[in-house]
Amino acid sequence: MPPKKKLTTPFHSRIDLPEDTRNAIGLILNERLADFLDLERQAKQAHWNVKGPNFGPLHALFDEVAALAVGWADDLAERAVQLGCVAEGTLGVIAKRSRLPECPLQAPDATAWVHQVAEALAFCANAARADIEEADAADDAITADLLTRITGEADKQLWMVESHLA
Ligand SMILES: [Fe+2]
Repeated sequence: MPPKKKLTTPFHSRIDLPEDTRNAIGLILNERLADFLDLERQAKQAHWNVKGPNFGPLHALFDEVAALAVGWADDLAERAVQLGCVAEGTLGVIAKRSRLPECPLQAPDATAWVHQVAEALAFCANAARADIEEADAADDAITADLLTRITGEADKQLWMVESHLA
C-alpha cells in the first residue's frame, strides 16, 4: 500500500511489515489520534460548562467520554510507535490535523452540548471504522483489531450519548 504522504521516516522496527506499510498505517493512526484527542478536549469543555436539570448525569457522561478518548488515543499513539513512526499528539498538531466539527466555548443549552459531543464521538467512531478495511488491506491485522475494538467501544459510548436525545 503506497503511503498517502510521508509522515516521518519510520524508525527501524523488527515488525516484518514493509516500511511503506508502516508509514501509511502510522499516518492513519496519527489522524485518528488527533481526532480522539480533540474529542477529549470537546468532552471536557461540555463536562465543565453544561447546565440545566440534567447537569449531574451529563456532567458524568461527558467526563466518561473524555476518559475513554484518552485511553483510545493512548493505544493509537503507541501502535504508531510500535510500527516505527512518531506519535504526534501535541496541541499544535491536533489543532491542525483534527477534522472534528469546531467546538464552541459555550452552548445555548444542555441539548446542544449533547449534540456537540455526539457529533464529535460519531466522527471519531466512523473514521476509525473506515480505517479498519485499510489496515486489513495492508495485512496489519493488529491495527485492524485495535481499530475494531476502539470503534466498538466508541459506538457503545455514542449510544449512551445519543440516548439523551430520544
Ligand atoms: Fe471534572
